[in-house]
Amino acid sequence: MSSPPTPLPPTIRWVGELDGHLELLDQTRLPAARELLQLNTVDGVLDAILRLSVRGAPAIGVAAAYGMVLGVRALNPLGSAVVGVARDVSARLLAARPTAVNLRWAIDRCVTAVVAEPSLLRLFREACSIHADEEAMARSIGEHGKALIKPDTTVLTHCNTGRLATAGDGTALSVLFAAWRDGVRFRVLANETRPLLQGARLTALELHTAGIPVDVVVDGAAAGLIAKGEVQLVIVGADRIARNGDFANKVGTYPLALACAANQVPFYVAAPVSTFDMQLPDGRSIPIEERDAKEVTSFAGHPVTPPGVGARNPAFDVTPTRLVTGIVTDVGILRGPLAPAIKTAMADSR
Ligand code: MRU
Repeated sequence: MSSPPTPLPPTIRWVGELDGHLELLDQTRLPAARELLQLNTVDGVLDAILRLSVRGAPAIGVAAAYGMVLGVRALNPLGSAVVGVARDVSARLLAARPTAVNLRWAIDRCVTAVVAEPSLLRLFREACSIHADEEAMARSIGEHGKALIKPDTTVLTHCNTGRLATAGDGTALSVLFAAWRDGVRFRVLANETRPLLQGARLTALELHTAGIPVDVVVDGAAAGLIAKGEVQLVIVGADRIARNGDFANKVGTYPLALACAANQVPFYVAAPVSTFDMQLPDGRSIPIEERDAKEVTSFAGHPVTPPGVGARNPAFDVTPTRLVTGIVTDVGILRGPLAPAIKTAMADSR
């Protein structure tokens, strides 16, 4: 095995004060290149979110909060006019990625802040505090969940839920990082995560960089390996969790949960309270982003389907609560029945 790569630059960084800019590590270029995007406009932030230069539910929320600052700053409104401008900018950002509810959570916080005190400085302070809160939540998730990881086991994960997906150590990967820091030694199987390979490109990079042994598997291999007894625990992130514990995550999560249930393997979700959507009773009403078919009909820029053949490209799927062993949150691990546990956790987090 080659030596681990040098640590990655921060995923999201605000450079300077109120007149500064947003710096994002362009995740579309990883692992081949480490390019930093310097963004001064809300259009730049929108484009970065749409292209998945910044991705992962909590990271999208933080980037959008800074996008609010850039969008309002550009129009330089005074007094109560700040509120109207903030609402206009927020509508544009909210439409960027419909499934990750952290986007709405962050934007609602920004709008509430300027309604209370209509000033750009207040908005900027709120964006910074959203950033700090997400960082702290990621750390707590790791601390609460680390005891789930037992020595000499194999853990399987899907998509990317690490430092690249959040403002801190991650969600599911934060649990793995915390266990590793405590000296627990285990191996990871990272689902490649078609079509955009967040597992192969990003999770493998983060774990390898941290010195955690990781092998990439194609998504279709996971159920067979689980059935063969090669996986002792599956842990994934979430983009939105409904009141009853149904949740949306990267497409390919639901089949993993089914395979775990069929083989009595624990299936955990890790997410901050910003990922809970208490407005939704269950997963049926979670909006599922459908992305460009070209992401499926081509691979690394080369067509892989016959000309004229279309593709469906739902970016997320919904896993029902009955398949979830527990949810690792920043306020503790929630276990079934999840509906009352979620209600209590949300009340505790206020
Ligand atoms: O399309 P992406 O890469 O933004 O999808 C990311 C995921 O599905 C993650 O699992 C989810 O956001 C939780 S990450 C902390």
